[in-house]
Amino acid sequence: MKNHMIQKLFFTGIALLFTTIVFSQHRTPWNVPDDLKTKNNPYKSDASSITRGKNTYKMECVRCHGKLGKGNGSSADLLDIQVADLTADKVQSQTDGELFWKISEGRKPMPLAKRTLTDDQRWDIINYIRTFKGK
Ligand code: HEC
Repeated sequence: MKNHMIQKLFFTGIALLFTTIVFSQHRTPWNVPDDLKTKNNPYKSDASSITRGKNTYKMECVRCHGKLGKGNGSSADLLDIQVADLTADKVQSQTDGELFWKISEGRKPMPLAKRTLTDDQRWDIINYIRTFKGK
């Protein structure tokens, strides 16, 4: 009985590892749950929100996304996938709710910011990222 369980655990582990490897090679679309897409940014995009966002961005995001959001930060070359260009239409056309969710949840190798940053800090970052639009 005990042996049987250990064997089961072992094979579940192998299966999980295999799935992780397969999926890490293959980027699936990054879909945001519908009801969260329309979540509104509680912060007006004013100078103080943007400045707060910029400071947090510099600490948490610049190493991958780069100073101007182009996806060319100092760590970008170390990753095996392309870091998103935050100035691109593909990003800027998303709602604040979508960006909030992606930043909160992360996606390997991008870390989940909901662990390290408060909701307020993440909304401020979005106001800052909007200043990259069209640059
Ligand atoms: C370790 C490097 C790294 C860090 C740090 C990082 N990112 Fe990312 N980010 C990425 C990568 C790589 C992607 C592309 C992920 C994908 O397409 O699966 C990405 C994608 C994104 C996207 C989604 C773009 C799209 O195509 O929809 C947003 C928005 C974003 N990052 C914002 C941020 C913000 C804001 C921070 C700081 C809180 C941050 N990232 C920190 C590497 C990073």
